[in-house]
Amino acid sequence: MMRLFFLLATAIAMLPAAEDGKALFEKNCATCHKDPPVNRAPLLEALTRLSRDAIVLSMQTGTMREQGAALSIEQKMAVAEFIARSAKVEPLKGLCEPGYEARTDSSFWNGWGVDEANTRFQTAKMAGMTASQIPKLELKWAFGLPNSSAAISQPAVVSGRIYFGSQDGTVYSADARTGCAFWTFKAPVTVRTAMTIGTVGHARQAVMFGDQQANVYAVDTRDGKLLWKAKVDDHPVARITGAPKMHGSRLYVPVSSVEEVSSGSPKYECCKFRGSVAAVDVESGKVAWKTHTIPDPPRPTKKNSEGVQLHGPAGAAVWLSPTLDLKTRRVYVGTGNAYADPETRYSDAVIAMDMDSGSMQWVTQLTERDGWNFSCVNPNRANCPEALGPDVDIGASPILRVLPDGKRVLVVGQKSGIVHALDPDANGRILWQTRVGAGGALGGVQWGMAADEEHVYVALSDINKRDKAGGLFALELATGEKAWYAPPATPSCAGVRGCSQAQMAPVTAIPGVVFSGAMDGVIRAYDAKSGKVIWEFNTLRDFQTVNGVKARGGSLSATGPVLAAGMMYLNSGYGVLGGISGNVLLAFAPANQ
Ligand code: HEC
Repeated sequence: MMRLFFLLATAIAMLPAAEDGKALFEKNCATCHKDPPVNRAPLLEALTRLSRDAIVLSMQTGTMREQGAALSIEQKMAVAEFIARSAKVEPLKGLCEPGYEARTDSSFWNGWGVDEANTRFQTAKMAGMTASQIPKLELKWAFGLPNSSAAISQPAVVSGRIYFGSQDGTVYSADARTGCAFWTFKAPVTVRTAMTIGTVGHARQAVMFGDQQANVYAVDTRDGKLLWKAKVDDHPVARITGAPKMHGSRLYVPVSSVEEVSSGSPKYECCKFRGSVAAVDVESGKVAWKTHTIPDPPRPTKKNSEGVQLHGPAGAAVWLSPTLDLKTRRVYVGTGNAYADPETRYSDAVIAMDMDSGSMQWVTQLTERDGWNFSCVNPNRANCPEALGPDVDIGASPILRVLPDGKRVLVVGQKSGIVHALDPDANGRILWQTRVGAGGALGGVQWGMAADEEHVYVALSDINKRDKAGGLFALELATGEKAWYAPPATPSCAGVRGCSQAQMAPVTAIPGVVFSGAMDGVIRAYDAKSGKVIWEFNTLRDFQTVNGVKARGGSLSATGPVLAAGMMYLNSGYGVLGGISGNVLLAFAPANQ
């Protein structure tokens, strides 16, 4: 890291005027970072919100290392200079006064899905709110995330404090009522996972999370000091997207990657990454077991049209936060598409692993032959798999629920637009399947669903289907039948680039109310019985923030509302997947509270 910064400093000093950043960008980057963007590539407008360092680092050692491989450090600087119009690093403001104590509260929202089963259903007691108070929700404070084009780390609220990560790698601990900050911890790269709080070692409390270089951290909740850091995958572009899940003395860590993006370069030896789950000991940070989603390691397959050696099988990344079944002691994950041939039965699959040993118990593949990577959208398609598919990952955590008759269901939403119910007690046998949309790479169920005792609530993306995008479904847990459907609202952001009515964001529920955010920046609360909208708030605007950082709302996408101790917290802004950039964490409470 030090060496790189030295290099950067030297490079700035030596930057030759001859390097034309704009021309370099057009030649090397604009094939994907254009309008409309290619699949997941952020728009140039979204990239301008990153600092110059972040852009160079991305090309040097990060996500864009393959795309930047042909450029010298001077050329990378010139590209970054072209992209970054504002690289001002703002000092942290809005710290709590010395000696300030958080008002502790025993209710909490911990981790991604609020419970082991990933229901995203918070009880009224824990939420500190009932359905009748939701129409009275109003904004209490906003927190601006510096150097960020997206607010991507779902917060956790425990003992009166809120914890969240950010795109520039800063993790914050703040007062849950007022938003004043207690401490920050700086990871070298983006931290986008939800936060998990647990007891580590000698009654010490830690906040745990993963970063975009496949590191897991445990940080002391009192002062933000690092307790341990563990690398769970050696692949150069492995990362942690889904939140680690804690139970007992273990943290179950899902591992994904951006090798799909690296593969866009015909010179890249596609592909060697396999998704996995690692069980990490929370006291020591040591990996107790690690199970790959694809058991067979990649082998050389054939040479591509450029004479570059290819490898496979690869892919089946785990993007989501694992679901734990404490009755059978199993970990359930859904996997993404394959990156390379040969095809396997492990991509787009639900996999059950033993919580104690990691051994695979059963596999239910939901879509066969779904090979895809960025080479498939390049003219020469050098690395595009023969078993080419629609790119319909499972990116939403499976939800485990007990039906009134005592039978159990594992409900899985997929980018294909289909919601599947599996029998966790019969090796993942399919119980029912309901189609809610057309599906596709950015379609169907993207980031998550919620379920109460009767219904699973499903938000539809289908962003490429324009006026057919969006909508919220309530499905009967027992049968998959539609109980109600709330159509999407006309997007309120007409004319803004990235404006869409699609509902990619994960759903959250409390008794009687379902929350679903849309790409146009509007969060809505729906009556859980009828689907009628009972409250909404448009986050697509500038906000005054408690920490003095200029902040704006944008698309609601990768994270959903978190309710605890009488407040509701919501990230706004997601300049990825074609969405509208933003950088704000919002806190709401019912009026007069
Ligand atoms: C093959 C398509 C492609 C090309 C070519 C490409 N990018 Fe990207 N880029 C992407 C995608 C896709 C992402 C989003 C990755 C993700 O999912 O996080 C991305 C993300 C980024 C980011 C966001 C930060 C990060 O590390 O995730 C930066 C900065 C970036 N690209 C810069 C560049 C630059 C500069 C170039 C030219 C040297 C370039 N990209 C070329 C596809 C591409």
